[in-house]
Amino acid sequence: MNRARAAIVLAAGQGTRMKSDLPKVLHPVGGRAMLDWTIAAARAVGAERVVVVAGAHAPAVGAHVEKVLGPGSIAIQDPPLGTAHAVRAAEAALAGFDGDIVILYGDAPFVPPERIEAMFALRAVKGGLIALGFEARDPAGYGRFIVSGDGALERIVEHKDATDSERAVRLCNSGVLCADARVLFQLLSMVKNENAKGEYYLTDVVGIARSSGFATHVLVGDEADAMGVNSRAELAAAEGAFQARARTAAMGAGVTLTDPGSVYFAYDTQIANDVTIEPHVYFGPDVSIAKGARIKAFCHIEGAEIGEGASVGPFARLRPGTKLGARVKIGNFVEIKNSTFGEKAQSSHLTYVGDSDIGARANLGCGTITCNYDGFDKYRTTIGEDAFIGSDTALVAPVKVGDRAYTGSGSVITKDVPDDALAVARGRQHVIEGWAKAFREKKRKAKE
Ligand code: UD1
Ligand code: CA
Repeated sequence: MNRARAAIVLAAGQGTRMKSDLPKVLHPVGGRAMLDWTIAAARAVGAERVVVVAGAHAPAVGAHVEKVLGPGSIAIQDPPLGTAHAVRAAEAALAGFDGDIVILYGDAPFVPPERIEAMFALRAVKGGLIALGFEARDPAGYGRFIVSGDGALERIVEHKDATDSERAVRLCNSGVLCADARVLFQLLSMVKNENAKGEYYLTDVVGIARSSGFATHVLVGDEADAMGVNSRAELAAAEGAFQARARTAAMGAGVTLTDPGSVYFAYDTQIANDVTIEPHVYFGPDVSIAKGARIKAFCHIEGAEIGEGASVGPFARLRPGTKLGARVKIGNFVEIKNSTFGEKAQSSHLTYVGDSDIGARANLGCGTITCNYDGFDKYRTTIGEDAFIGSDTALVAPVKVGDRAYTGSGSVITKDVPDDALAVARGRQHVIEGWAKAFREKKRKAKE
């Protein structure tokens, strides 16, 4: 039988090198806060309790966690006295929990759930403590795994406390640790702060476990899993690493990226096969694109569902709540928000569509504007199937245009238009024969 699982996420560091008013762990990578990546990984491995340890200096972290995980999921570590001290801060929130705990980090978003799963699995077989390590290209700064001849993990030594020969070790500590909850808190109570930084090191539990008769094992992962963010440059590097993976995954799933390096994905972008994405396209969160669609160059898309065979752009902006049916065509300089387009509906140029429902095969002429906002409230516009909205029509919501109806170019439509009707709402054209000629002659004479 599987043991119950919990996760403790450490996020009480100051993050001073970010030089930011926003707490470090709330900075986004791939459109999602780093902390949320870690929380998602904890949930993906079935952690029934997730406790985030935050510092007293960053109330925004507590508020965020409350929103994402609900009350009782935050533990405050004040003042922060080291990683072991941080884990102990979560003890009260996990009172009564009996099972396995994994310790994760709010500033290390890329530990794959499969890797955590493998740690739990190894623990199920071998028992004891499982530490996640990796072979570092440059081990400076990391804790080193000191492994005995038989492959067991003897202890972890922090870079600052290591001898030269220990510093030569390249097998490093990711920080991720998996252990039985009761054993872990029992060992943590024995950790002292006699080291170069005067901190309570979580890493010391390994040596203490050994001398208390508990087994300790290493699971070796990839260096990329352990990637942590301490500065804006590392944030950019993490973003780059995520984007590189997302591009490779998209192409692997049958998506054509003409210039992969210029396309930016979010953590949850879903793209079906045989979609083509031209250069310079940005995806914010919550986008899905069905088979065969084409996203032309220079589009900004977030919170949008794009139907099969649809064509979007170049230079289109799709904002949250956009739903495009199959084979819809959206052209250049069209902005859409909180609106649906039925199958084969079109808006080819220079248009704003907000809070609207556009019927199948309807055509919005160049310069159509839905006037959805009066400075206080928003109102909906409904356009029927096969309707034809003349160029430069302003639709003052709330308003409905019926099926197959037309609006005259340049109209300001303030009243509903019945099915099959034409609505024209503009000044009538006046023609004064010969006026221009007479005007020019008069002006010319005056200059003589
Ligand atoms: C830690 C590990 C090191 C490992 C490295 C991986 C220890 C003693 N060392 O070192 O072996 O190679 O991570 O990146 O654990 N934190 C708190 N409260 C505290 C101190 C830290 O919540 O009192 C949090 C930080 O926000 C951070 C994480 O714990 O997310 C790691 O702390 P940090 O001080 O960065 O540890 P390192 O020195 O990098
Ligand atoms: Ca660190």
